Amino acid sequence: MKFLITAGPTREAIDPVRYLSNRSSGKMGYALAKAALEEGHEVSLISGPVSLSTPGSANLVCIESAREMFDAVKTRINEADVAIFCAAVSDYRVADIAAEKIKKNNDELLLKLVKNPDILGSARQEFGFTGILVGFAAETENIEANAKGKLERKGCDFLVANDVSRSDIGFDHDSNEAVIYAKDGSETRLKLASKEDIARQIIERIR
Ligand code: PMT
Repeated sequence: MKFLITAGPTREAIDPVRYLSNRSSGKMGYALAKAALEEGHEVSLISGPVSLSTPGSANLVCIESAREMFDAVKTRINEADVAIFCAAVSDYRVADIAAEKIKKNNDELLLKLVKNPDILGSARQEFGFTGILVGFAAETENIEANAKGKLERKGCDFLVANDVSRSDIGFDHDSNEAVIYAKDGSETRLKLASKEDIARQIIERIR
């Protein structure tokens, strides 16, 4: 099967030298790519800026901003049988990117942010994707309710929820713990394990 996997953070420029981003290391998404390759699948890995080496024969597509990730997914998703959205996409970007480096002339600096496109949310209706759709939910509260809401709203077959308020899992850690919520109402609990182990279990559940 052909997999499309998004991974890592996005960067939203403020000026030529500064950006807004988040703590995603790409480890979870790259582990998913590796696990899918190990099962003999083809993988397109659409990745924000990370410090990881490309897993095996994955077709790596490097992007920076959410809008670049949107375009990269849009042009490739309908070649895939399975699409997994593990990237931590910035929900907002700066409305007006400064052409020159911003000087510290004032005591306060206000940045106006505007909403980025919801890439996972566009998969079904805007991109017309009919394959298996897997989202992630990075939650700090009401994990089950928020995850189930995203599963339904975004038309996913599976939603992998992880608690990113914990200090031992989630963003930038080598381990994770998660629950896979499925469209059919079933739930699969993935106990604390390395991201490689969690990734193998996610790929196995999808299979
Ligand atoms: O990269 P690591 O350091 O290994 O950390 C892994 C992780 C914590 C980033 C990963 O396990 C994870 O939870 N990824 C999803 C992060 C996220 O942005 O979650 P969310 O609940 O805000 O978004 C819900 C879903 O919509 C996600 O599938 C996300 O990829 C997608 N999304 C979000 C916003 C947006 N504009 N477009 C999207 O496609």
